[in-house]
Amino acid sequence: MKRIWLPALLAFVLAFGSGCGARMNPPGDSSNEDLTVIGMSQVGAESDWRVANSESMKAVFTEEKGYRLLFDDARQKQENQITAIRRFIQQQVDYIVLMPISESGWDSVLQEAKEAGIPVILVDRMVDVEDDSLYAAHIGSDFFKEGALAAAWIENAFQETGNAVNIIHIQGTMGSTAQLGRTAALEEAAAAHENWELLAQLDGDFTQAKAYEVMVDYLSGLPGRRRIDVVYCENDNIAFGALQALEERGYDCGREGVNIVAFDATRGALTECLKGKISLAVECNPLLGPLVEEVIQVMEAGGTPEKHRYVKERAFTREDLTEALITNREY
Ligand code: AHR
Repeated sequence: MKRIWLPALLAFVLAFGSGCGARMNPPGDSSNEDLTVIGMSQVGAESDWRVANSESMKAVFTEEKGYRLLFDDARQKQENQITAIRRFIQQQVDYIVLMPISESGWDSVLQEAKEAGIPVILVDRMVDVEDDSLYAAHIGSDFFKEGALAAAWIENAFQETGNAVNIIHIQGTMGSTAQLGRTAALEEAAAAHENWELLAQLDGDFTQAKAYEVMVDYLSGLPGRRRIDVVYCENDNIAFGALQALEERGYDCGREGVNIVAFDATRGALTECLKGKISLAVECNPLLGPLVEEVIQVMEAGGTPEKHRYVKERAFTREDLTEALITNREY
């Protein structure tokens, strides 16, 4: 049922002497009477992961299940997300679901949502705000833990050699929780291993095109051919761009050559992993729609949801994979 927030309900009761039939629809419009209205601000469609995440939300929040989903694609711009949230506030939606592009810059608009009495649920990444009552709950991945899984694999893969481990690091959207966590884990591990050398940190912005471009630039700028042991790619699409650039310049990718480490473990990356071209695929689960619905159901029943919920994830090497596993994977 579409809820009406308390101040508006009081005003309505005072003005008309009855709370019956309270809803925000214009008179005569009964179309949304029983639907819970969700304003959702998605980052964009920069990666296969992101597309799977949007699909997961759209599959859950359907009219058949009692929801009206107002889905906004911010096309990679925080200002578009802020505009969408302000529009949702004006529309007096029941819940705002936000996948924040980066961590900073949310205090004012989330304060506006709070003052309007609209709970905000953060999905995927986090926000860095002074007051954590500005959001009701957060559901997503532990990005540092994902990075630590990758670092442990690198440590194990190169422990026998004792030689320098030459690493290229291609980062995701700067300032996003996924970039900050995965970067921190690698930097921490590099600092703890004298023989790990971070040859370059490049900005791949979580897209295949950008990763290809920065990798081509980097390889073209080298005076000669250089041994590269690991390319730590902060998502699958970065890995696809890096792989293409490396292969075009004659590098062999795989356990005996350049080890590509990728995050997300979407079907495309697992396919490359089974072929041996990606050495490690660390999972980042985008199927968060059902978990967001659980939070909403708790709140609809008058409860308080868990503040932070992290999804379980694992990593895959070639040995863990089969064609059937990849075909049956949901993303
Ligand atoms: O925040 C999750 C990250 O964002 C995924 O790893 C990436 O593919 C996406 O764009």
